[in-house]
Amino acid sequence: MTYLDLPPLLRATGTIKLPGSKSISNRMLLLAALAEGVTEIRDLLDSDDTRVMLAALQKVGAGVTASADTPREMVTALGGNAYRVEGCAGVFPGKEADLFMGNAGTAIRPLTAVLALCGGHYTLSGVPRMHERPIGDLVDGLRQIGCDVRYTGSEGFPPLEIFPAQVNLAAPIRVRGDVSSQFLTALLMALPLTGQTAVIEMTTELISRPYIEITLNLMARFGVTVERDGWSRFTLPAGQRYRSPGLLHVEGDASAASYFLAAGAIAGGPVRVEGVGRESIQGDVKFADALEAMGAQITWGDNFIEASAPTIGKLKAFDLDLNHIPDAAMTLAVAALFADGKCTLRNIGSWRVKETDRIAAMATELRKLGATVEEGDDYLAVLPAPTFQANASIDTYDDHRMAMCFSLAALGGVPVRINEPGCVAKTFPHYFDAFAQIAAPVIAIDGPSASGKGTVAQRVAAALGFHFLDSGALYRLTALAAMKAGVALDDEAGVAALAGNLPAEFPGDRILLAGEEVNEAIRAEEVGIGASKVAALPAVRAALLDRQRTYRRFPGLVADGRDMGSVVFPEAPVKVFLTASAEARGARRYKQLIDKGMPANMRPLLQDIVQDLRERDARDAARAVAPLKQCDDADLVDTTALTIDEAVATVMDSVHRKLPFSN
Ligand code: DC
Repeated sequence: MTYLDLPPLLRATGTIKLPGSKSISNRMLLLAALAEGVTEIRDLLDSDDTRVMLAALQKVGAGVTASADTPREMVTALGGNAYRVEGCAGVFPGKEADLFMGNAGTAIRPLTAVLALCGGHYTLSGVPRMHERPIGDLVDGLRQIGCDVRYTGSEGFPPLEIFPAQVNLAAPIRVRGDVSSQFLTALLMALPLTGQTAVIEMTTELISRPYIEITLNLMARFGVTVERDGWSRFTLPAGQRYRSPGLLHVEGDASAASYFLAAGAIAGGPVRVEGVGRESIQGDVKFADALEAMGAQITWGDNFIEASAPTIGKLKAFDLDLNHIPDAAMTLAVAALFADGKCTLRNIGSWRVKETDRIAAMATELRKLGATVEEGDDYLAVLPAPTFQANASIDTYDDHRMAMCFSLAALGGVPVRINEPGCVAKTFPHYFDAFAQIAAPVIAIDGPSASGKGTVAQRVAAALGFHFLDSGALYRLTALAAMKAGVALDDEAGVAALAGNLPAEFPGDRILLAGEEVNEAIRAEEVGIGASKVAALPAVRAALLDRQRTYRRFPGLVADGRDMGSVVFPEAPVKVFLTASAEARGARRYKQLIDKGMPANMRPLLQDIVQDLRERDARDAARAVAPLKQCDDADLVDTTALTIDEAVATVMDSVHRKLPFSN
């Protein structure tokens, strides 16, 4: 079994660019494949569920390809991507296919309906859990109009086999809407393929209505309108065809946004998510309203939402009907652990037929953290404990949302183990890296050259088991790359372009530039001087910023440089400014040269080394951007009279004071 141990977390703050929405990605892919014309889809989610849809569409002959000319900025660290879909104008050319649907409800439901109208022979199957997730209401609806859809396993569940059939739409299709809204979505998306007037009548209450709004909204973008009578009757007028709108962007995933917004509300904030905002077509953005009802501070932008903790006191208890946001509601169940009283989540019966029985799973795992949980058929009541149970081992039931939700528990200041964390790949393969970007603790150690910070930072990282970033090495690598490429060190745009695409790798203790080991080369005196020159160029600093931030991972990071605390990780809970007199630093450098075996006749004079350090300090401190300086909230450690061991011990004191949970 694999697991991820999250350390106790104190604070969450920062900005996350969301991956594309799963609901929108899979709908857009299918509609584009059915449409007339070519559709370019940007920012498509790259995850298990979208791969399932892509593979199925390719198997039935839709022309779906990753755009060769995907603009670089579109391929984000979170896996966003651009695809070109050649629509097949309503008729898939592949008439025989065996399709594997994984555990993707957003793929199997609409594909079943579409394929039932395609006049071919298809089979659809999935992982074992998929074969326990109901599809009977949809199959009943399709059979009413003459479709030939058969169960090859248990009645009412996948796997399915589909045969060609003649359809008759004379009578309205009557379907239930109280198990999954995806059955209605599937029928709505498929019926325009018949070209005839089609009417769907709901025989029950319709749940999760905002998902139907996403469906209607996207169908409209492909030129098909649906007449709606409340939420009980839907009419598709005859003669409509899907037509490509050309270029489409996928919004950020609003359900995924819930984890980061909750983190901001629980642990200080502000945490901002980019990719959704007040214009979003996804119902799950209403999660922010629920957080606001708990007392969190919420700010809406056109393309962002931001959450911070209440100005005073704890998050407030709630009693809410959450039928409209079934997925994001899971995040509220975990946020309930941080509330000031008993929280009740109502009308969430659909949880029972999702990736797992989410009501049962949620109750079991919340109890491991000390909460008292009452579980009903369609509700959950959570009474938080005054303190979190440490070292809970959280099971995730192959459910991406269980894994993502329970990462928030570490914000209770306790270590939490997440079992089988890889299940997040269903919708958010890089979730834990993204969560680390706002929550993993950072120890920023800044200071002038030869202050000993590199050695101290490395020792502190080893003692804590944290990752280590030597940011100076990135500037040195940039200077070396420029020297090798013959780019002048004052050519700001040229050097920044190199810095933005630095082919540097750090396997073990080795430092590679374009595959060549450069551990020694980057320590050369002229490379150090070059680094200090390129480091003064604003465009170079900007080009290295995001790269440095990706080193922030669990269980934590020790980062050493000049602006770790001031610019790169301003929210770092521990900041240290390590310095020493120029004479002491010069003497250390001189000794290093002797230790390295440099012959006396080649060694620079001690006074020249000191002079050189002074000049470099002056340049680093005088530059316009990110000058070397001690932050107000940094602890000053003067190592002039300290041994390395004493310096490490002094820094560890700061760490223990500011990160009380660290070892
Ligand atoms: O720490 P170092 O000597 O390896 O750094 C090399 C140069 O890079 C140094 O002159 C300052 C610059 N630098 C910087 O400007 N900002 C950082 N965070 C790290 C290094």
